[in-house]
Amino acid sequence: MALPQKMTTNKVLEQGTDSKNRILVVDDEAASRDLCQAFLESDGYIVETCDRVRKAIALLAVKKYDMVLTDLSMPELGGIELVKQVRYHYPHTSIVIMTAFGSVVSAVESMKAGAYDYITKPFPRDLLRATVRRCLESHNLKREISKMQSALYKQDKLAAVGSMAGAIAHRMRNPLSIIQMCAQYLATRIPSSEHIQVLQAIQEKVKTLESLTRDFVEYSRASRIRKSPEMIEKLADEVIRNVMPRCKIQNVKVMRQYQANLPQIPVDVDLIKEVMTNIIDNGLEAMKGAGKIIIQTKTDKTNQYLYLGITNTGAVLSAELQEKIFEPFFTTKSTGMGLGLAIVRQVIDGHGGRIHAVGDPKTNSTTFHIFLPMVNKPQ
Ligand SMILES: Nc1ncnc2c1ncn2[C@@H]1O[C@H](COP(=O)(O)OP(=O)(O)OP(=O)(O)O)[C@@H](O)[C@H]1O
Ligand SMILES: [Mg+2]
Repeated sequence: MALPQKMTTNKVLEQGTDSKNRILVVDDEAASRDLCQAFLESDGYIVETCDRVRKAIALLAVKKYDMVLTDLSMPELGGIELVKQVRYHYPHTSIVIMTAFGSVVSAVESMKAGAYDYITKPFPRDLLRATVRRCLESHNLKREISKMQSALYKQDKLAAVGSMAGAIAHRMRNPLSIIQMCAQYLATRIPSSEHIQVLQAIQEKVKTLESLTRDFVEYSRASRIRKSPEMIEKLADEVIRNVMPRCKIQNVKVMRQYQANLPQIPVDVDLIKEVMTNIIDNGLEAMKGAGKIIIQTKTDKTNQYLYLGITNTGAVLSAELQEKIFEPFFTTKSTGMGLGLAIVRQVIDGHGGRIHAVGDPKTNSTTFHIFLPMVNKPQ
């Protein structure tokens, strides 16, 4: 299952100035408003202005702003009321206030109401710039954290759905194999060919259901890993033996490029075989006709990971799909479940390893690069 993209603090902070944050300036003094707008626009922000709190509230209702920069004392409604409204209705909008010199008490009051910071008028351009920048950096950081939190929440939900589906699928296996056996038995007893065809249709559909339930069971099992020391080439050879009949039919050559004397590494034997099988199955399906499957093993440069590369010729995975293909239920096939690579990612993550896939138009091929820790990593 794909983890949310990691975002470094630097990247988040850059966004504060690079991506266009929207700011609403609220001030009844036209000169002050225009000056703020000119300064902030020259720093690359999108700036809108208005002269009353009521107008600001109306604008906030229809547009999204990252930050409000407001004067405190204005006719009709004051800036503190705006701070309260923004905090209550638009918690994702940050607010900075401008106060006249000497009104520190109101400034403190508005900070208590939830303003991010205040600046005292008249302020130099650099102070305005630094305060706005700081406020938006913190705003963007919070936004990224909240995005990551919701991605994690989604992932937890998916994991829960996965294990529930796995449990249900597991219990369906028994009845399905009984239906299958009964249909097989009846097929031997029924003389009419018309009825035999009906029974064959039942058997075929049961087979589809069986493979579906197997996928779900594997998906939920992928999070329960039992490791033992194993030679990765031995597992690769077993997988190759199993897929060989299909490769022969499709005229696909399997090439092994194993580094000599690799050590045993801690793996869940069945699950790692499942990983290789799923990737090779996909490769065979993607290349459609004849071609090559290349399996490579070696230690990586740091000597901490064992590298397993699985390449298929004849199909190039596009750059846009490189991450998507690992999401549960992502498929481009009419008969696919889209669980094969979700299982793969879950298993590799569970081993403390890494996986990514790259298509290479020059060689007309796609390679899955897998790195597995050579020693047991604490989870
Ligand atoms: N070697 C490959 N070359 C190009 N595309 C690939 C390759 N392997 C996987 N894909 C793409 O990734 C998608 C997801 O693969 P995945 O194995 O998760 O699901 P699936 O094969 O569609 O269904 P199933 O659940 O039966 O495995 C595929 O539908 C295909 O579009
Ligand atoms: Mg697949």
